[in-house]
Amino acid sequence: MDKQYPAHILKCHPMMGTNIIKANNTLLSSAAGKELIDFESGIWCAALGHNPDRLNGVIVDQLQYVSHLNTRLVSDLAEKLAVDLLELVSFKQGKAVFLSSGSEAVEMAITLARLATDKPKMLSFSNSYLSAYSHMTMPRKTAAWLELDLTQCNRCPRKDCYSECPIVRDIDFSQIAAFVLEPGNSGGRVLLPTAQLVEYLADNVQNDGGKVVVNEVTTGFGRTGKWFGYNHYNLQPDLISMGKALGNGYPISAVVMTRDIAATVESQGFKYAQSHQNDPLGCRIAAEVIQIFKDDNIIQRSEQLGSFFVKQLRKIENPLIKEVRGRGMMIAIELNCPALAEEVFQQLYDQGFYVGCLPYASVVRFYPALTIEQRHIVDVCQALTGILNNLTKDSGSHE
Ligand SMILES: Cc1ncc(COP(=O)(O)O)c(C=O)c1O
Repeated sequence: MDKQYPAHILKCHPMMGTNIIKANNTLLSSAAGKELIDFESGIWCAALGHNPDRLNGVIVDQLQYVSHLNTRLVSDLAEKLAVDLLELVSFKQGKAVFLSSGSEAVEMAITLARLATDKPKMLSFSNSYLSAYSHMTMPRKTAAWLELDLTQCNRCPRKDCYSECPIVRDIDFSQIAAFVLEPGNSGGRVLLPTAQLVEYLADNVQNDGGKVVVNEVTTGFGRTGKWFGYNHYNLQPDLISMGKALGNGYPISAVVMTRDIAATVESQGFKYAQSHQNDPLGCRIAAEVIQIFKDDNIIQRSEQLGSFFVKQLRKIENPLIKEVRGRGMMIAIELNCPALAEEVFQQLYDQGFYVGCLPYASVVRFYPALTIEQRHIVDVCQALTGILNNLTKDSGSHE
């Protein structure tokens, strides 16, 4: 038996009692000998799988030199990572700053957009997850936030009616400091905003002097089958927040910004210094992550495996499935009711598959490492088919 829930760890979110002692690519092993295929890549961070040898080698190597520095002593490794990232997003002469968590990166990007525009309001989708800090989680019911209900827009049959649409027609774009776009995750539900809506908002905000902040904490680095989630839209961001896969499980995040934003906030004397800002170990790891993505064609792999995965899931014919949504390796199945999601999660767990579960949204989700083997995708789809078939029988026998 695995030991029960840890007695001295604050319980502030659901946890299993499983004591995981080893992780290798997508395989998790517990102290009690249970094996699980990880379809969550940690919490969406280990896009290259857990503990890849090449990255481990770089970590061990860097530990012989320097891992942490005073904020006045900036290593060349930070400069190298900045150049690599700026090239990836084509921000010529832009700048970057490296922090520890995705939450910090989103907060920082919003702060910078506000400073750069001196406008009072932020525009976002009501169900976007932006950061762990209480004023940034959903819902943000403050006067500074103008939030659009993405689900209503996505259901609307008309796609070119913005001048009449009650959701967007009254937006005073001159007041908007930034449109903070989470390009298609929304807390693991895989809600994908339409291109028409996103591009309309981005164009109008930028035309009126506001900025487009893209939150790529989850959607960045191949999760959606492209380098970044915003690459699915025709827009040019001003600031981009990154995290999670950037460190493949090591806590490093980034804010990347255009030259104009950097020049504006620097000229205002913007001050920010945090304990792990631009730390050399994190920067070396992130630069290696990017290089592995390039060398191993990980983006293409994500795109191909993701479309295979979605096709397999859509083949499952079962009345308990409401919808299968996916973009790259960011995949969710919405079931007919919340209790079902929890039941499917538990049964998959019992059969050796660790998937994501959002009971309140009736969602079971799959955000595996982009290095997952195709056979594991086939296996989880087979297991899911069996579980859903049995549940359908069970619900029929009670009628
Ligand atoms: C879209 C999005 N933004 C920001 C965050 C916050 O990142 P972190 O948990 O690293 O602070 C998350 C975390 O799940 C996220 O999904």
